[in-house]
Amino acid sequence: MTFQEAREAAKKTIGPHCRVCPECNGVACRGEIPGPGGKGTGAGFIRNYQELRKVRLAMDTIYEPRGVSTEARLFGRTFRLPVFAAPIGAVALHYNDRYSDGTYSAAVVSGCAAEGSAAFTGDGPKDPAFLEPLEAIRTAGGIGIPTIKPWGVREVLERARLAQEAGAFALAMDIDAAGLTVLAAMGKPVNPMPVEAVAEIVGAVKVPFILKGIMTPEGARKAAAAGVSGIVVSNHGGRVLDETPATIEVLPEIVRAVGGKTAILIDGGFRTGLDVFKALALGADGVLIGRPFAYSVYGGGAEGVAAYVRKLRSELEEAMIMTGASSLSEIDETKIRAATA
Ligand SMILES: Cc1cc2nc3c(=O)[nH]c(=O)nc-3n(C[C@H](O)[C@H](O)[C@H](O)COP(=O)(O)O)c2cc1C
Repeated sequence: MTFQEAREAAKKTIGPHCRVCPECNGVACRGEIPGPGGKGTGAGFIRNYQELRKVRLAMDTIYEPRGVSTEARLFGRTFRLPVFAAPIGAVALHYNDRYSDGTYSAAVVSGCAAEGSAAFTGDGPKDPAFLEPLEAIRTAGGIGIPTIKPWGVREVLERARLAQEAGAFALAMDIDAAGLTVLAAMGKPVNPMPVEAVAEIVGAVKVPFILKGIMTPEGARKAAAAGVSGIVVSNHGGRVLDETPATIEVLPEIVRAVGGKTAILIDGGFRTGLDVFKALALGADGVLIGRPFAYSVYGGGAEGVAAYVRKLRSELEEAMIMTGASSLSEIDETKIRAATA
């Protein structure tokens, strides 16, 4: 199966909220939550996608070929490419009940693991949203990253214990989930959390801990001070606050603030291996992709996911060949240019 076939098949299976648009850019679904849209005007999601289009690749093929490796070392493991599936929780609510959080995670976790990537899994107000994905990660030998909502230190630590018991090689927390009004509507709101609380969680967890939802240098410095192994520069796909900047816009200032102190991942609007290349050139260590993995699953299950990961890897390889980078560390700002208009 190819990604294109999975995408075509998803048009019949993923509705009614997602239309599998020719460009997954947040325009048709703006404001649609439940559903995969961005919050309010949808500007956060739309901007993520649009600003990435303004970064362009600098082609140069006059060099002695040395082969290309997309291999990345992160969180104590080697991955075939620096791309991960982003956590997507409550799939039956936001897409439809063809998949549960358990069956969705089984497809995305195993499809990513088979191609040398890994999937983050989600969390929600009902326990199965967190527990069922853990079973998928256990089955995949721990190759998956459970992402816990900031429910409060005690509850986070209890979920972290269960995740470590399932063998997860790393854990994450989406610290920006306070903006998810859908949780409050379901009777389980989450709140911001001070740096001391994050540090307490990091101190108690035995595997690398990643904080997702960082959008400012100051937020990144607080995360680094709490001792996290990595951050995800993310506005939650535009779902937690309207009118944020695009993640690619704030990446350079965050890299200047904490680069070298903690791993820097990013998500929001990334669709191809060429998009991934742009983030690496601007200093990111890796990229998460959300919504396209949903239509890979709804259209092709684990096979659709694996096909998408293969496509991303071959696109990243092509960008490296055409710009003269033989390893990820050679992808730098000289290999891109900003649009002039
Ligand atoms: C339907 C849906 C559900 C999501 N659920 C979660 C979640 O449970 N936990 C989380 O940290 N992020 C969640 N996200 C945000 C994604 O992990 C990610 O940050 C975002 O989708 C990235 O943007 P992209 O979809 O444009 O690639 C969700 C996003 C969508 C669209």
